[in-house]
Order: sequence, then C-alpha cells, then structure tokens
Amino acid sequence: MSEDLDRARETLESSLSRPSTGRVYDFYLGGQHNYAIDREFGQRMVDMMPEARIFARENRAFVRRAVRYARRVCGITQFVDIGSGLPTQGNVHEIADESGQDARVVYVDNDPVARAHAQILLADTADPERHFAVDADFLDGFTLWKRVIETGRLDPDRPICLLVSALLHFVVPDQHPEQMLDFYRDQLPSGSLLVLSHCTDEDTTPALQEVAARYVATTSNAHLRGRSEVRKFFGDFELIDPGLVWTPQWHPELAASDEQAFEGDPAATLAIAGVARKS
Ligand SMILES: C[S@@+](CC[C@H](N)C(=O)[O-])C[C@H]1O[C@@H](n2cnc3c(N)ncnc32)[C@H](O)[C@@H]1O
Repeated sequence: MSEDLDRARETLESSLSRPSTGRVYDFYLGGQHNYAIDREFGQRMVDMMPEARIFARENRAFVRRAVRYARRVCGITQFVDIGSGLPTQGNVHEIADESGQDARVVYVDNDPVARAHAQILLADTADPERHFAVDADFLDGFTLWKRVIETGRLDPDRPICLLVSALLHFVVPDQHPEQMLDFYRDQLPSGSLLVLSHCTDEDTTPALQEVAARYVATTSNAHLRGRSEVRKFFGDFELIDPGLVWTPQWHPELAASDEQAFEGDPAATLAIAGVARKS
C-alpha cells in the first residue's frame, strides 16, 4: 500500500502542466484539491460565467440525492461512479454509508491525478474492503468494466447504481458516447439504475458555449448537448419521475436537513439530470 501511495504522490507532482477538469470542478466547489494552474483557469471561467459555481454545487447535490434514492428507495448497495473526479465532501461512499455499512463503491476516473487523490483520500476516509478507486477510461468500456469487476467489490448479478454525472459533456460526438452507454447498460443486471447529469446549451446562458470552448486547454474537450440528445443516453431504461430536469428539480426532498434548498432560476444550474431503471 505505501508503494502505491508513493506512486500516487509522484503522479500528482508530475501531472500539473494543464488544468484538470476534475480539479477545476473541485475549485468551483470551493474544495482544497486543486493547484494554481486549476485555480487560475477556474477563476477565469467563473469571471466569464459566475454560474459555474452554481452548476458544480447543484450537480453535486443532485448526485447525493440520487445516491440516497438508490440506497433508501431502491435498496441498492452497489455503486460504480465513472468520472468520479476528486473525493470531496459528500462522496458516493459517504452518502451510501448513511444507511448502513454494507455499501460497495468503485470510483473510476481516467485522470491519473484524480485517481491518485482518490487513493490517498480513500486510504484516510473509506473502508478499503468496500470502497475502491480504479484508473480506467469511459471510452474503453470493456477494460473499464473488467477492472471494476476485478476489484472483487461487486456482485455483477445484483443491481448496481451506475453514475455518469457531469462526465458526458467531456465526451465529444466523434468519440461516440452513445455506443459506450449501450455497452454499460448491457452490463447492468435488472433493477439497476443509471444516474446521469449533463451541461446543456438549451435555455442556458450563451457564456456557457464560450466556457466550453475554453476547455480545450484542459485535460478534456467539452461538448454541450440538448435535452433530446441527453435523453438518448438512457436508452430503453425507464426514466424515474420527474424525468430529465434541471439538477435542483430532481427529488429535492432527498436533501439532507442541513442542505440549503436551491432558490432562483433553475436554468442557472446549467445542467439537466435524470435517473433511469433497467426493468
Ligand atoms: C466535472 S468532474 C465530475 C465529478 C463527479 N462525477 C460529479 O458529478 O460531481 C468530471 C470528471 O470526469 C473525468 N473524465 C473525463 N473524461 C473521462 C473519461 N473518458 N473516462 C473517465 N473519466 C473521465 C474527469 O477526469 C473528471 O474527474
């Protein structure tokens, strides 16, 4: 384990030449796992579009509520979080563990920096028997799923909650995200959930397009999509009420009692979100 951690620290030190989308998102959230290069880029984006911080906060709040829904309403104890980003307050494993200490969570990211942070932070805050971080690319579904199953943390025959939150706007059309989603949906057993959120250029500020174009300087290009395109990512899974909505509109009653309710124009959150079930 200590060799792993040493390697993780080395990776962190050598991967700071570009802003990382995960660390910039951490900056929007007011987190501590970002560097000067991420903060400078993130601050420029916030200056162009102050809604960036609202997006991150409300997207994260949506993820927490979706995990509570999976756990409390559907009784799901297995989670795979692809494009998990940097561990922060209110991670999937922390929310899943609110309802008992039997949830299993595999975090996946293709950014070695995010993964290195995940390893270091999970070593401090999580149960290594139940929570794990793997390095894999959403675009290589076969390898990714193999690594997830090889962790030995999940029973592939029992329902899994698959999260792809604030990830797909970093997958451009040429990379055919819809084909990968088909693959992942096929791997999931009946009763599984797909949790998805995505930045949209439909009814949001025009500044978002300018910000998305600037992401060419980061570890991922960005691509915005409209509602009908995002809806297709759910395939034939059944969207749970209220369907595909602005992030704060998805089951606000599942927020923790100390969470502040969103007020204002929901379009200022920039992202739409939904959860769908495999029958
Ligand atoms: C904005 S963060 C989202 C974090 C978290 N899912 C959430 O919603 O709060 C996006 C993450 O997706 C990761 N990512 C981007 N492209 C990816 C890919 N092809 N495979 C795996 N992860 C990817 C980035 O490294 C980053 O950590």
